Amino acid sequence: MAGKGSMRTAKRLDEVGFSDIVQIRNKVLELRAAGKQVHAFHGGEPYFETPDRIKQAMSRALSENLTRYAPSSGIGPLRESIAEKLRRKNGLDVSIDDVIVTAGGAHALYAAFQTVLDPGDDVLLFSPYWTPIRDMITAAEARALLVPTSSARQSGIFAMLEKLTTPNTRAIYYNTPQNPSGVVFSRQEAEQVARFAVERDLIVIADEAYEDLVYEGEHFSIASLPGMMQRTISTYTLSKSYGMTGWRVGYAVAKEPFMTGLRKLVLYSTNGVSTPTQWAAVEAMKTPQSELDARREEYRKRRDLLVAGLNELGLTCAPPEGAFYAFANVAKISKDSRKAAGLLLEKAHVATIPGVVFGAQGEGCVRFGYAVPEGAISDGLDALRGFFQ
Ligand SMILES: Cc1ncc(COP(=O)(O)O)c(C=O)c1O
Repeated sequence: MAGKGSMRTAKRLDEVGFSDIVQIRNKVLELRAAGKQVHAFHGGEPYFETPDRIKQAMSRALSENLTRYAPSSGIGPLRESIAEKLRRKNGLDVSIDDVIVTAGGAHALYAAFQTVLDPGDDVLLFSPYWTPIRDMITAAEARALLVPTSSARQSGIFAMLEKLTTPNTRAIYYNTPQNPSGVVFSRQEAEQVARFAVERDLIVIADEAYEDLVYEGEHFSIASLPGMMQRTISTYTLSKSYGMTGWRVGYAVAKEPFMTGLRKLVLYSTNGVSTPTQWAAVEAMKTPQSELDARREEYRKRRDLLVAGLNELGLTCAPPEGAFYAFANVAKISKDSRKAAGLLLEKAHVATIPGVVFGAQGEGCVRFGYAVPEGAISDGLDALRGFFQ
């Protein structure tokens, strides 16, 4: 916060926000402490606990004293299994040298923006966007140029990027499946973004946190397109696919010169992810595809239940194609999404996130996270029915 004299933080932090979502979480905790039942749709964490196999791998690492410093970029066996997965599943031509382990996807993204951006650079950011991204761009003293996702998809992504870019544009943030909208970009859309990046000599920062949650079609990694590997930093996380949000483990994939930048940033920020956590991650990476597919079907059931209920109540939303969020129109309650989310929380004890915190293009909607037990969705819908009576 800005202050007098030397009792202030560095100026580059002045414009960096602190998550609105945290304030909602606090309000929920307050209601719960007062003995109220809260229908919690504000979160973004898997409905299942970390599988035992993964926890046991951590215990094994501890009993084998695998507790010392590891290479700051990650232990060899983990980077090897990640590289193998990237070749097999994402179609990326990579080796262990192109992979760095990070403290979750958030850390990978932070390091990616810091690696690429200079003060005064612009970044094309599809909006609505995952809130921290704009702050990460601001923390690099760069500026976000908002690209309205819906209109871009309707009118053509290439043309929209062309219209909104500036001579200072350095990078594009490309998130699929998207938080908060659930949009999944198609291969053809990825090709348009890639063509634009190549033509304008831009870097793509790809965020594939929800790669295992695509309900319609298939996840497609933009770095797998010809000529894109060298100009893309792709980021991933174990948080969502393996129920490991609190473990803080993810990874970034890039070629030089960017990998050296990422290595420096990881070295001087965390000096690597905790060693036992990395051994647990090795076990997580062995998860059979059938297990990931079965979980996706669990999410699909929740999505269908929630989306049908919301549409019935006039909180309209198209079924999200990916991730685990429904972005519902709340004009029926208020056009001001903060007001709508506030009323839902106060009167129905239904916790959501106001769409405007995901950018101007999110105004008029609220985000419901459906990574919750099915019973919690039915109960939440009942509470909403009560709200409208
Ligand atoms: C779009 C998106 N990217 C990245 C992340 C990073 O997750 P984590 O830092 O837990 O790996 C999240 C988490 O909510 C997300 O929604």
